[in-house]
Amino acid sequence: MCGIIGYAGGGNAAENVYEGLKRLEYRGYDSAGMAVIAPSGEVKVIKKQGKVSVLEPYIADIRGAVGMGHTRWATHGKPSDINAHPHSAGGIYVVHNGIIENYAELKEKLIAAGETFISETDSEVIAHLIKLNCDGNILTALHKTAKMLTGSYALMVMREGEHKIAVLKYRSSLIVGYGEGENFCASDRPALAGKCDKISVLEDGDFALISAEKIEIFDKDLTPVCRPKTENALTAEKLGLNGCPHYMLKELREVPQTVQNTFNSFNEVKDELSEVLSGTKRVIFLGCGTAYHAGLIGKKYFETFARIPAEAENASEFRYKDPVISRGDAVFAVTQSGETADTIEAALLAKSLGAKVIAVTNVPQSAITRCVHAVVPVAAGAEICVAATKSYVGQIAALYLCALTFAGKAVTPKEFKLLSELPAALQKTINNINVYTLAHMCARSGGVYFLGRGYDYAVALEGSLKLKEVSYVPSEGYPAGELKHGTLALIDENTVSVVLITDSALAPKSENAVEQVLSRGGKVAVITCLPAVAKRLEGKAEIILLPACNKFLSPLVSAIAVQELAYRTAVILGRDPDKPRNLAKSVTVE
Ligand code: M6R
Repeated sequence: MCGIIGYAGGGNAAENVYEGLKRLEYRGYDSAGMAVIAPSGEVKVIKKQGKVSVLEPYIADIRGAVGMGHTRWATHGKPSDINAHPHSAGGIYVVHNGIIENYAELKEKLIAAGETFISETDSEVIAHLIKLNCDGNILTALHKTAKMLTGSYALMVMREGEHKIAVLKYRSSLIVGYGEGENFCASDRPALAGKCDKISVLEDGDFALISAEKIEIFDKDLTPVCRPKTENALTAEKLGLNGCPHYMLKELREVPQTVQNTFNSFNEVKDELSEVLSGTKRVIFLGCGTAYHAGLIGKKYFETFARIPAEAENASEFRYKDPVISRGDAVFAVTQSGETADTIEAALLAKSLGAKVIAVTNVPQSAITRCVHAVVPVAAGAEICVAATKSYVGQIAALYLCALTFAGKAVTPKEFKLLSELPAALQKTINNINVYTLAHMCARSGGVYFLGRGYDYAVALEGSLKLKEVSYVPSEGYPAGELKHGTLALIDENTVSVVLITDSALAPKSENAVEQVLSRGGKVAVITCLPAVAKRLEGKAEIILLPACNKFLSPLVSAIAVQELAYRTAVILGRDPDKPRNLAKSVTVE
């Protein structure tokens, strides 16, 4: 949700900023801009509507060793050259990730004080406030300004004539990177991959001054502080496409490794998790989008293995419903990025009401990890495509282990065999899956309905989200049994119903749904790991046969099928699956 990057050093600032912005583009891509201080002290700005590449023709003309940039996901004001960052006022230049909630009131006062605004953004008020608060010291001006702002902000500020960047972090992520003769600040790790050996994660309320020589960090009272330095393990190679045309495909191919790595990492946190969960009487899974869908499966695992009440809820709904939480409740906050504002706030609320809170996240040291009792890692590695793929499967794998651990089941030899065989089964699925015919059916359809029961229903919801997110084909996920209670009215020859059937006990019931759709002229596809189902429905429906799989682990296998389907449909329709319209990867605003 907007990416920002700053550079100060002996290199070419414009090139470094541009490269960083390309790496942060998954956070927003409707407009981009940068500001660079020339050796003379003059600041050169370029900002344009469009993806980061719109800046490329201009960077050769921008000389300077200190600069900062922004790639935008619009919140206030439509995507346009004028609304793109940086914003400026009186020699102050600002890039901002977050939302200034009291901007309207501040803007009114600033206009009354004689300031002139040119954009529709909330962020422009920051530049004007710093300008008015600045008596020559950019850091104290930023400190004074911070006290006037309500909302969330990761900010970088430059001032004409000064070869440094002042930064401020509050409820939006910001890291600093220590290089050789050059230093960096950025929203997220990918921007700094291969650029520096060490990074520090800033805490809420931290300020920093970044110059070529040093990084100075200050707390909310401007007292100098040290933040832990950690290795910057992410390399540029790990961020490459590895021969794939899109990150979505590359990341889908990384599912087996993700599951294996997640199993391995779990051993390191198992004991701590058991301790945090001891005495738990009810579990609640919170997340947004795909992470919520993983939570639906986590809920089933806990109900089945531990026989305790379990719920799953959209974090955005939980926050505002005055939730009933008691001691003895454990809340799993599921979030790939660890940055989703709704999930973090919901987790904090649950914690304040007495729940034990566990983060299930793909990003170590992300914001969520700093406000919970325990962290369960999803070891998917960097996920660049806006649509979650490998992280979803990794979340399910992690939640499976959490439920088994809580249930106190030492993994039996049978379960151990199933788990150890899982990465190979996932690989086999990836190697053999063929959804081309179905993808063409979906691409031509007027609507796609994903149907299933039990675990299959949870995956149906995710299949539907994935398809609409990357292909823009209208789609919904429904419980197969609900079809006859209303959805059947939507079925005609232009619709495709994708029915997931992986549990033999529920298969006859789900097959009823197939027949009901066929009787009304709808096209049907069946995703199943049950050869008997495939045989019965052959000739009536398009069949996607998956490797045989234990019903509890089937969501991990069928997830690959629905993700592959979404990807292929998007490609057929000429969409960019990595950067779907209107979206961004880390939703750090409410
Ligand atoms: O980083 P998070 O897991 O918290 O993100 C939650 C959702 O924004 C995310 O899963 C979104 O639904 C994906 N784009 C779906 O592919």
